[in-house]
Amino acid sequence: MCGICGVIGKTNVVPQLLTGLRNLEYRGYDSCGVAVIADGTIHLRKNVGAVEEVEQKEQFQELEGFIGLAHTRWATHGGVTRANAHPHLSCSGDFALVHNGIIDNYRPIKAWLKERGHQFLSQTDTEVIVHLIEEYFRESGEIEPAFRKALARLEGSFALALISTHDPHTLFCARQESPLIIGVGNGNMYLGSDMNAFVEYTREVICLEDGEYAVVRRDGVTIRQMQTGKRVVRACEQMPDEGYTINDKGKYQHFMLKEIAEEPEVVQKALEIEDEAIIRLARTVAQSAHVYLTGIGTAFYVTLIAQHYFARLADRYIPALSSDEFPFLAQVGRGSTVIAVSQSGETIDTLRALRYAKERGATTAAVVNVPSSSMVREVDQAILQGAGPEICVLSTKSTVSQVIILLRVALELAVLEGKLEARMKEQYEQELASLPALLTDLIASLPAQVRVPAYEYAKVHNWFFIGRGVYSAVALESALKFKESSYLHAEGMSGGFLKHGTIALIDETTSTAAFVPPPEEKELFALTLSSIQEIKARGGFVLGIHQEGDGSEEKFFDAEIVLPAVSPLVAPVVALTAGQILAYYTALALGRSIDKPRALAKSVTVT
Ligand code: F6R
Repeated sequence: MCGICGVIGKTNVVPQLLTGLRNLEYRGYDSCGVAVIADGTIHLRKNVGAVEEVEQKEQFQELEGFIGLAHTRWATHGGVTRANAHPHLSCSGDFALVHNGIIDNYRPIKAWLKERGHQFLSQTDTEVIVHLIEEYFRESGEIEPAFRKALARLEGSFALALISTHDPHTLFCARQESPLIIGVGNGNMYLGSDMNAFVEYTREVICLEDGEYAVVRRDGVTIRQMQTGKRVVRACEQMPDEGYTINDKGKYQHFMLKEIAEEPEVVQKALEIEDEAIIRLARTVAQSAHVYLTGIGTAFYVTLIAQHYFARLADRYIPALSSDEFPFLAQVGRGSTVIAVSQSGETIDTLRALRYAKERGATTAAVVNVPSSSMVREVDQAILQGAGPEICVLSTKSTVSQVIILLRVALELAVLEGKLEARMKEQYEQELASLPALLTDLIASLPAQVRVPAYEYAKVHNWFFIGRGVYSAVALESALKFKESSYLHAEGMSGGFLKHGTIALIDETTSTAAFVPPPEEKELFALTLSSIQEIKARGGFVLGIHQEGDGSEEKFFDAEIVLPAVSPLVAPVVALTAGQILAYYTALALGRSIDKPRALAKSVTVT
């Protein structure tokens, strides 16, 4: 959600800024800009569009400077216009600022600044910050006190970075509830919303915490608390090599397809995560009076799937709550544990849920893909997915990896609680071990079943996705993937829920994708077929996603996606991947912007 990059060096830093900008684009892509200081002046170029488009329009590479900022935007306040793109300048043009987050009290500040003669060019909340700093600078003639005084007036969430012609050797930055890190390397200093801003140049990182600001010069960094001004001593950390963006699609047309193709490898990695970390979390769950799972979007649907695995394997009901609603429902305190799921580890709703739990004395844990993320640093127990960079804004490979990790925790919990015999555990482990090969075959063969029919699916404007039991969660996730990639309306729900209202919408213009469980799951299988019949009776088109040879296709479907016959333990994962492939080819048939769908961003750091 908005990408910030800043560099100060002893040679022209524009190439590094542009690399950072490209690598951060997945955080927002409606407009972008670059500002550098050269010859005592701030040179600013910005415009509307994705990074590549704006680079061409604005010829960023013509800029030169030893210090600069870059920003890629995901609009919150103010439309997608050139004026609203960052960086923003103060009236004098002596200060330039970029921001990620939301300033809740920007209106009164703006009114106050207007009374003092400041002129605003944008509708953004961000612009008030740079004018506020300028206003306080007029009083004191010093940047740092002006910066700090301005920060003290801001309410809301922000990661921000400032440059000024009054001190062209310094980057000023601050963090409050939005991620910001400092990179140290090659005689240069970097700022970034995440590691991708400078990953090609350094892995040495100093992480800012909430409520801190930093003064960054080539020869060092001074961190202080915003409120007290007290100095904070923080050492550099060496970040691991995995989990960062590499902008290379290889032979694939889209990152989404590339990342789906990586699922067998990612599942293997999830299976190879040290037992110790998995057992530690299972033990924490076993010892906790109340446990919650939380996440949002796809990550929430992962927790819903995990909820079924915990219930089924370990006889343990662990409620899954969407992290945005978590504080309004969860009863947490000492003796409770909250397990969050997040690819980015920066999603503000999920971070807030964890902070809420932590403040009340709960133990916090998270399954996260990005090692340098805030969540990894904040929780008591983090399990790193090791799924590698996920560039497509739509989550695919990290989703299956998260499911496997939580499934492993459920298995260990079942063992700890005496709910699973050693023989059964061994069998389940064998089934899991066979999953990478199964997914490899599926990913190679399924496109042949989906690619051509997808042109017909693309013509249907209203879709329902249904399933029963764990497949209701698979249906919710598949509907989300389908709608965000294709922009077709898709609603996921349990098959049982459909007849309590939504069935009123079923007619010959609507299509339903129905996930049919393996026939061994007799009750779920029968219930799903009943739901399908109810749809057929009302003239609805049904796309059955079912296992080969299960007999379900004989009577019911208008179209089908046939999956391999696999065990009930791994079948939901196979169905998830099938849902992703269906979404991909439908979006492809519609010529959608698959890797960067409109209005979305990879890392949602605003509420
Ligand atoms: C959908 C998708 C989103 C994310 C959600 C949470 O394809 O990717 O719904 O799952 O924004 O993101 P993380 O997992 O980074 O917390």
